[in-house]
Amino acid sequence: MLIDKQDLPIVAMDFMNEVHYEDVDIINTLFELVLAYDKNPNEENFDAINIQYEKWYAHTVNHFEGEETKMLELNFPPYAMHKGEHDKALERMNEIYQEWVKSKNVFILKIYLIEELPAWLIQHIQTMDTITAMFFSTGSMSCHAH
Ligand SMILES: [Fe+2]
Ligand SMILES: [Fe+2]
Repeated sequence: MLIDKQDLPIVAMDFMNEVHYEDVDIINTLFELVLAYDKNPNEENFDAINIQYEKWYAHTVNHFEGEETKMLELNFPPYAMHKGEHDKALERMNEIYQEWVKSKNVFILKIYLIEELPAWLIQHIQTMDTITAMFFSTGSMSCHAH
């Protein structure tokens, strides 16, 4: 397992927590497929990674759009900042994918999935998503009720 669900920060909106758990399931499966290819780099294992990666990308587009739609509905003031982190993350996912497909160098995926992605995800949930969910649930960005 790459990411333990228990390590994910819980935010104040259940719909967001649910999507984050789904995300972790998809990522953990992807990581297993990466390890399988590392052991046995054949066409079938290559394709399996790509199908799962594309599933993850599509899920992430929906994950981010779900948060962005609600931010716009409720006029979340730092919308652009939160969306900026989403856009950068999607760009990075896509860049890694292109490099991997072109080179078939599984090291690219391993480094990204081990060294970069979990830290990014936890950091993003701890900051942007936490503040955003707090705003969704209370209409305020402060953790203290006034
Ligand atoms: Fe999120
Ligand atoms: Fe987010």
